[in-house]
Amino acid sequence: MQTFLHGRDLIGDLDFSKEEVETVLDVAFDLKRKRSLNEPHAYLRDKVLAMLFFFSSTRTRGSFEAGIAQLGGHGAFIESKTTQIAHGDTPKEIGEIFGRYFDGIAIRHCDWGVGNKYLNDVAKYSRVPVLNMQCEIYHPFQCLADLMTIWEKKGRDLRKKKIVVSWAYASSYSKPISVPQSLVLQMPRFGCDVVLAHPPEFKLMPEIMDQARAEAKKAGVAFDVVTDMDEAFKDADIVYAKSWGPLVTTTDLDEGKAITDKYSDWITNEKRMKLAKDDAIYMHPLPADRNIEVTDGVIDGLNSVVYDEAENRLHAQKAVMALTMS
Ligand code: CP
Repeated sequence: MQTFLHGRDLIGDLDFSKEEVETVLDVAFDLKRKRSLNEPHAYLRDKVLAMLFFFSSTRTRGSFEAGIAQLGGHGAFIESKTTQIAHGDTPKEIGEIFGRYFDGIAIRHCDWGVGNKYLNDVAKYSRVPVLNMQCEIYHPFQCLADLMTIWEKKGRDLRKKKIVVSWAYASSYSKPISVPQSLVLQMPRFGCDVVLAHPPEFKLMPEIMDQARAEAKKAGVAFDVVTDMDEAFKDADIVYAKSWGPLVTTTDLDEGKAITDKYSDWITNEKRMKLAKDDAIYMHPLPADRNIEVTDGVIDGLNSVVYDEAENRLHAQKAVMALTMS
């Protein structure tokens, strides 16, 4: 499979053009079909992906590792604490050396204040594609799976469809802001009207908001920001509500918790879902804080697509690996 995406990195959501994303998802749907029919699709025989994790994961690790194996290759799980990174291996060593051992380098590096610098620095020295398994700014593979799921449920023509990207309360930990940022960047390109809802302290990064507004203007779609969860849910076709930290406002954990706790009523429950359209889908990248961020009734209800969304991580990632690493 020799393609125009061969050798390309995927670090930011807009690294691939709209047409390239469409190609990725066409391949993802084909791979999903092939897997369901047990058709062979070993496009990456003898290829090896390095999967370097600086942060925990259930879905990302599982889906990348299963995906590369299903493509006939192998995934090498590398936990950063078991490397010599703490003893001096810089991004140059990782890019130069892993780039010579492996056929792709996937990295999860979500540290606050680093942005996507670590990934960019590795990519500068790597001769093979660098794939972003989530950084502080973007979660592009989650967003590809989200778009694939939306197409499955709502069709490919998303004009006049309203997606609500909403903050939700969670008590567990300050979750990264990469998922909402990826969504507001990517969804306007595919025709969705976007409503972003969050309390005043939970803003996204200003540069991401500027880019998202520019994408919405280019695509001719609406892009609104509100501070009321109920207002945001009204007549929505797609409800995507999840927690993220007040990290643009404060990096002090105690202050952050005090700010977050003011908004414990920002939960997705049955009453709120009734404000959306009857056939609205509920999405969440997981993990979710059940009955804090979202009620069991909603996440396990008929409108929830969270398990299809998690499954589509597998197919979307296999498509990108096949197109970039073959
Ligand atoms: N949605 C997601 O990225 O899940 P993990 O953190 O479990 O990988």
